[in-house]
Amino acid sequence: MSIYILGIESSCDDTSAAVLRDRKVLSNLIANQEIHQSFGGVVPELASRAHQQNIIPVTEHALQQAKISKNQLNAVAFTRGPGLLGSLLVGTSFAKSFALSLGIPIIEIDHMDAHILAHFIVEDQTEKEFPAFPFLCLTVSGGHTQIVKVNDHFDFETVGKTIDDAAGEAFDKAAKIMGLPYPGGPLIDKLAREGNPQAFHFPEPAVPGFDYSFSGLKTSFLYFLRDKLKEDSLFIEKNRTDLAASIQNTIVDILLKKLSAASQSYGITDIAIAGGVSANSRLRKALEEKKSELGWRIFIPKFEYCTDNAAMIAITGYFKYLKKDFAWQDISVYARRA
Ligand code: KG4
Ligand code: ZN
Repeated sequence: MSIYILGIESSCDDTSAAVLRDRKVLSNLIANQEIHQSFGGVVPELASRAHQQNIIPVTEHALQQAKISKNQLNAVAFTRGPGLLGSLLVGTSFAKSFALSLGIPIIEIDHMDAHILAHFIVEDQTEKEFPAFPFLCLTVSGGHTQIVKVNDHFDFETVGKTIDDAAGEAFDKAAKIMGLPYPGGPLIDKLAREGNPQAFHFPEPAVPGFDYSFSGLKTSFLYFLRDKLKEDSLFIEKNRTDLAASIQNTIVDILLKKLSAASQSYGITDIAIAGGVSANSRLRKALEEKKSELGWRIFIPKFEYCTDNAAMIAITGYFKYLKKDFAWQDISVYARRA
């Protein structure tokens, strides 16, 4: 018998609902909140209010698109954390009351685990290869940068992480310094396509082991531009694409050096990427290049499963459903992982 899971994601500024039949996505709808663009970042109170407006219509559309009635659902999976508390509360409260009204269980999901398990989504009938355990997953989002050794669907070991900013933050902050709106990652990616990645060089951090650091890069980018703008006030306008390509190249180089070192140290060659920054075209291309060089099998999610989405919440919910790992109605949300 098929299992139908409704996934709800509301950890940051995207309200998303998805329906899965077993591991197959029937619908995955996302309402983006454009309201934050002009503020240069997500405004938590506005995000929470927008979630309240979006969550019911987005869920209704997800059920319609999946062509199922709410009574066919077996469980509701929701993001419990990490994320913005006010935003998480909207999704969590909705999931609890919706499930309660249907008399079905709720399943709590960790957002970062879900980014990784998005690799196990099945989209159609075609044969798809999945990463074999243990594999390494570079999880790169706006709030996190980690190398995770995935031993099993629910056995994750973080072998490296950022000691300050996340890779997504590095993209967003570099974009902000260049006067681009939030979120800057996709805009840098777009501009970089026309630019020379070797035009400018920025220092890479010296952090031991498989850990990362991005705050120094942001500062050197800021000081570099401040000095250049003194000489020529149009420096950014004149060098927009080269600046984007160079900073992107530096961030991707930093990410891949540690990932390669971890792969060699653990003797693991199944390599996956996950999280918003895994949508980056330079990162995706650089991984392809490593494939033959290091004998990697690489796993890159489809674009819609890289950035925040509820299909990844529902697939994680599906695996937990099989274990009957359900949550109680009194469960609370968390901003950070303990
Ligand atoms: O996973 P995600 O959607 O949300 C969080 O859980 O944080 O990641 C958002 C981050 C933002 O920093 C955004 O700028 C970055 O992912 N991002 C990108 C690209 N698309 C999204 N960064 C670089 N290149 C992209 N194409
Ligand atoms: Zn995310």
